[in-house]
Amino acid sequence: MLRKTLMNGAIAFAIVASAGAAQAQSAAADRPWMNTKLSADERAKLLDQALTEEERYGLLHGIMPLAFFPGAKIPEDAVPGAGYVPGVPRLGVPPLRETDASLGVSNPGGMRKGDTATALPSGLALAASWNADNAYAGGAVVGEEAAKKGFNVLLGGGLNLASDPRNGRNFEYLGEDPLLSGTLAGAAVRGTQEQKIVSTVKHFALNDQETGRNVVDAQIDEQGLRQGELLAFQFAIEKGKPGSVMCAYNKINGHHACDNDFLLNKVLKGDWAWPGWVMSDWGAVPGVSAAANGLDQQSGEQLDRQVWFDKPLKAAVSSGQIPQARIHDMAQRVLRSMFAVGLFDTPSRQGQPIDYAAGAKVSKTTAEQGVVLLKNDRGLLPMARTAKKIVVVGGYADLGVLSGGGSAQVITGTGNAASIPVGGESPLAMLANQVYHPSSPLKAIKAKAGKETTVRFADGRYPSEAAALAKDADVVVVFANQWMMESIDAGDLSLPQGQDGLIAAVAEANPNTVVVLQTGGPVLMPWLGKVGAVVEAWYSGVRGGEAIADVLFGDVNPSGRLPITFPASYDQLPNRQIPGFGYVGPSFTDPPEVAAEKMKSFAAPHPYGSDIGYRWYARKGFKPLFPFGHGLSYTSFKYGDLKVSGGDTVTASFDVTNTGPKAGVDVPQVYLTARSGAPELRLLGWSRVELAPGETKRVTVTADRRLLADFDVKARQWRVDAGTYDVAVGASSTALDAKASAKVKAGAIKP
Ligand code: GLC
Repeated sequence: MLRKTLMNGAIAFAIVASAGAAQAQSAAADRPWMNTKLSADERAKLLDQALTEEERYGLLHGIMPLAFFPGAKIPEDAVPGAGYVPGVPRLGVPPLRETDASLGVSNPGGMRKGDTATALPSGLALAASWNADNAYAGGAVVGEEAAKKGFNVLLGGGLNLASDPRNGRNFEYLGEDPLLSGTLAGAAVRGTQEQKIVSTVKHFALNDQETGRNVVDAQIDEQGLRQGELLAFQFAIEKGKPGSVMCAYNKINGHHACDNDFLLNKVLKGDWAWPGWVMSDWGAVPGVSAAANGLDQQSGEQLDRQVWFDKPLKAAVSSGQIPQARIHDMAQRVLRSMFAVGLFDTPSRQGQPIDYAAGAKVSKTTAEQGVVLLKNDRGLLPMARTAKKIVVVGGYADLGVLSGGGSAQVITGTGNAASIPVGGESPLAMLANQVYHPSSPLKAIKAKAGKETTVRFADGRYPSEAAALAKDADVVVVFANQWMMESIDAGDLSLPQGQDGLIAAVAEANPNTVVVLQTGGPVLMPWLGKVGAVVEAWYSGVRGGEAIADVLFGDVNPSGRLPITFPASYDQLPNRQIPGFGYVGPSFTDPPEVAAEKMKSFAAPHPYGSDIGYRWYARKGFKPLFPFGHGLSYTSFKYGDLKVSGGDTVTASFDVTNTGPKAGVDVPQVYLTARSGAPELRLLGWSRVELAPGETKRVTVTADRRLLADFDVKARQWRVDAGTYDVAVGASSTALDAKASAKVKAGAIKP
């Protein structure tokens, strides 16, 4: 009996199995693109062949699925967020559900009621950690949370170089150096895409100011563009392999970045042979010609004057203006990235539980490592737990930590601790709120202070009141904030709303004053000589308050290094004001003719080419307030036994020793300083070295040859000249003590 049952079972199983196999076979026959043995490109070609013309065009433009657009019909399968491109259910093509951004999964205007996400620290905080592991881990956190909230595209990887310290989006990006920015952005993209979520890098390219971002014409010579901004993107794309690149709003040398044959066809898809798809920024498509000039997908189409990539594009194809083959290329680029990253082969994780504690841990680690100790006189820091009285002042430190505004805004933890409306004329005025994440530095300081310690708080509105409270304190901690937001640049480099006066008054009353900056970029410090210590905490994310307190009390030995130069005065900047300063673009309500008038383009010359930041200061012989790469520790380090070898490139090896009393992490940096006697300052590499007191470790850094080269525009390649290359190791771009040279051979590298 048993035998018979078993036999029947086996037969039944065989029937089911063979039916299943037949079904699988027929499925495979119906959908050959689902064969994972094929390459992403082969799969994309097969699928493209199965699309109807309508379905194909449907992949080339998308909406912003948010109810705040009049008459917006939010598709059933959309998740309210930044973007949505319909899929093709008939063929198993998932829709693209797109969310912002690098610092966490955004929830624009709180559209997804009550939905919060892990808020990473700002891009500058990440960059100040000089730690690609943090970038990868942060990218993975945001990718995983995006997937579990139903998204499959993250509009991350913001990395425009900081050519002006007042750029309103510097907080989102990674500073002024191509290698540091590209390396960290690449790691973040890798972290996100390993969660099977497509990531972008953005905004390609030279979107280095918010003033008039839709009309500004960034003018720059090709060599300067290649050796700076484009090299940053090149590093990021090589290291991260992003499925998509988002082109920028601005023009470059007279052509919109999203309608730019040189940028998109010649460089990105030609020289770099990048196979993915170029999506526009939201409302950045000037016309149907963009399809011929390298744009593959129109995003946020409600923000453009027309849905160019539907009827007008079809008409352009019928008229022969654009070849049909280009439409297949556009669709296949979208599909091949979807295959390459895994969107077709990964079951949805929407609705799965999210471990926000794990995300917060990643955020806090980055925040701690991103805090930069700029000044520390008389060992004022770390604060002693035995202090009898600590006074904390200003910066809404009782509520939480500041965050940056715009599309990168994250609502985190238990929700906004405060959201202070700013208003104004920016195109994003409806999103202009100074948001504080619910991680109070005051609360964290109180939790860490000794039992006998009194901790008092003055909100800082009245300097006299704060000064009176501060007078008899053992130590005073003043929080000073500079809120930044997408679509507006900082009017100047001063701390806003009278904070300079507040700091000066408090420091006058008590020289044991510590200033904690929460800024979106560099600021001037007229009170610097009067205060004992300065810490730059940037926008420190969902656990920022605790991270700041950990550093102030010495539970974390600060290891942050500046990813962006702090100027000593405006005279040190290439432009006294950001080009077009004061420009106010059209509002949504302007009639077309008024809007057109306001959309007049203006030039933003970049005569300095790739010599931005520390390269600019070196070229002009300026001494900045705090240099790129600067950051102090509660211990001290020294470098020794530098050996530099040459050949095709340079390799520097050297010892790092902890010469102080505490364990700590140093970030020695290796710079090119001259080529055959001609000064040329470029970061070639770095390392984060953890050392116990007295410990020595040896570090080796090998330079990417493009950093030794000039881009030869005529020959369209990188050219390394034979000669003697001087290399230095130091604690910043100006503290270069160990020097050596090596002979390098001539060479050429593809563009
Ligand atoms: C924006 C930003 C871009 C963002 C997009 C979607 O205006 O420039 O970074 O990803 O719109 O929100």
